[in-house]
Amino acid sequence: MAKLSYSRDEIMAEHPYAKPHTEAGYRLHGGFDAAGHYISPRTLNRWPAIRAWQEALKARGGDLVDASPQLTARGNFPSVEQQSFLLELGLGQILWDALTITGVIEARGARLTEATAPDFQSIIVEDISQTAVGHLNKGLLYAHGLDEGGNRANGEGGHDAMWFAVRDLLFGKDAWPDPAVPESIGRPELGRLMPQIPKEYEEWILLLMNVLMIEERAENFFSFCNRVMRAPENFRDRREAALHAAELVDRIRQDEAPHVGYLSAVVSELRSVTFKTVDGGRIAGRAMIDPIWNGMVQWHAVTNLDHDRARVRDDLIAKLSARPNGAELVRQFDSLAMRQAA
Ligand SMILES: [Fe+2]
Ligand SMILES: [Fe+2]
Repeated sequence: MAKLSYSRDEIMAEHPYAKPHTEAGYRLHGGFDAAGHYISPRTLNRWPAIRAWQEALKARGGDLVDASPQLTARGNFPSVEQQSFLLELGLGQILWDALTITGVIEARGARLTEATAPDFQSIIVEDISQTAVGHLNKGLLYAHGLDEGGNRANGEGGHDAMWFAVRDLLFGKDAWPDPAVPESIGRPELGRLMPQIPKEYEEWILLLMNVLMIEERAENFFSFCNRVMRAPENFRDRREAALHAAELVDRIRQDEAPHVGYLSAVVSELRSVTFKTVDGGRIAGRAMIDPIWNGMVQWHAVTNLDHDRARVRDDLIAKLSARPNGAELVRQFDSLAMRQAA
């Protein structure tokens, strides 16, 4: 029987790295094994723990939620072909902005190091000490926050620093000014959705779902970055730097997998338990969670995606239109999307 109960120190434990992770003079999280393979930070026990909780859930007859097909169905906007077209025109600023915004949003993830989830055991009938939910405050949220925003205490950069390094490798430092960054990328509050449980718990369940959606949707951007940076026709004057940037993106992508892993375990576990309601009754997790989960997937996969695309599109159409042959460039840009869809 796999180990299901971990101390905070165990969740936070690092591999014994053969080589530290440094880029452009920055000390970054994680490290390399003797063969030179990148190892994500704090995953010595965290990964085995996540897998064990997922397996235990399945062994109890639960299934693991997976919204990734819906969240990644439409790919990135602009597409790889459209991005290459923009780069060819010297409009790298679109990608520069996307990379900067991603880095700033990653840095906000550091807030998770200061967050304490409420005691879910007090509103759940079953014993949750051997589940991911039971370990949120035993290192899962803290490790996640450090992964995203770095560890200021020991000067190790996290994903924020890694995205800025990717951007600088591709375009050079300070190539363009910093763009405006959206205030929030989670769904706005809609009033009480799960009145069966206290508000604080509802807020936490929604937070965890929102973060899981954002993590899963990021896959579109990872595969987009990978293809744009590895395409030989892009960044022709700095191919080596572009390939290195793609490798950094792969490392970030590898680090994100345990986030998706534990958050999908948490949401799935919440579906599988019985909640004690505020009026003294009981409700099956599925009955309460599923409608909320489905609404959340729909918002992130469709509503918010449309909104985001419109924002990026307005910006790049304005930039294309400012060119002397603007209308023709917009036509060419759009025809590249159609070719992909065909
Ligand atoms: Fe991240
Ligand atoms: Fe993440």
